[in-house]
Amino acid sequence: MSQQIWTIKDVIDWSIPFLKEKGSPSARLDAELLLCDVLACRRLDLYLDHHKPLNSEERTAFRDRIRRRSQGEPVAYILGRKEFFGHEFYVGPATLIPRPETEHLVELLLKSYPDDTELTGLDVGTGTGCIAISLKKARPHWNLSAWDISREALTVAARNAEALEAPVMFEQRDALQDSSWGQRSHAFDFIASNPPYIAASERSELPVSVVRFEPALALFAEESGLIFYRKLAQKAVRSLRQGGKIFLEIGAGQASDVCLLLEESGWQNIAVHQDLAGLDRVVTATAPLA
Ligand SMILES: C[S@@+](CC[C@H](N)C(=O)[O-])C[C@H]1O[C@@H](n2cnc3c(N)ncnc32)[C@H](O)[C@@H]1O
Repeated sequence: MSQQIWTIKDVIDWSIPFLKEKGSPSARLDAELLLCDVLACRRLDLYLDHHKPLNSEERTAFRDRIRRRSQGEPVAYILGRKEFFGHEFYVGPATLIPRPETEHLVELLLKSYPDDTELTGLDVGTGTGCIAISLKKARPHWNLSAWDISREALTVAARNAEALEAPVMFEQRDALQDSSWGQRSHAFDFIASNPPYIAASERSELPVSVVRFEPALALFAEESGLIFYRKLAQKAVRSLRQGGKIFLEIGAGQASDVCLLLEESGWQNIAVHQDLAGLDRVVTATAPLA
């Protein structure tokens, strides 16, 4: 961009083909969100003020964001935030970017417990805290804990809980270790988890923006992506009250394996739930009788 006058419309028109050429599947949206960030305005304002010129600082800031996006960095990391279940969450390099599919798990959980009963729940692998915090916003009387192995992710989650005024008890724990489960005996009415579930062998099929920028710790899991489901099937029951439920987000094609793992550990009422795209997305089950 030279020193000529560049209006809002000009810079958007310049960025769209550039980002498309660099492989962005959502070039217009990306450019508009990044420009809104620079100008601290709404998307609608870009259209209302499309003839407004940008000053040189704004142009530099926009160009820097577009450069980062052109190198594959997800918009959410450039902005440092992402909307989930109607709330804005801080995100950072240590946290997975919350996905719209995960909202389905939150919806299912809220539908399962529609009344005012006071419940205790645990979110395993909380990342930004998006599941636990969204639940707390919807059911402020629930008592919620959330675990993650990553201290950096927990720092982001705690920041989100504070910003959204949704207190959750965050704990650094390794959900694959027995001792984590032993310390919380029969404490919870439900356990929710969107664990890492991608097999290492699928790495090459993932978009560059995921592999290069999202934390491997949040993506990949051993045993063809199933280790967390196997461990949760075996261990989570120890921390659930009688009749307690588990809500597990799953990856494409994992439903039958996850159901089998739960069956082998005696879980009951095992059910698979599809998301809006008709894909198997969440498995729920009731804890086996002790
Ligand atoms: C797929 S991300 C889900 C994040 C968030 N719940 C969401 O839905 O956006 C999985 C999370 O599990 C955490 N994690 C990985 N291994 C773990 C372990 N052994 N114990 C606890 N958390 C773990 C990662 O740090 C990451 O935050």
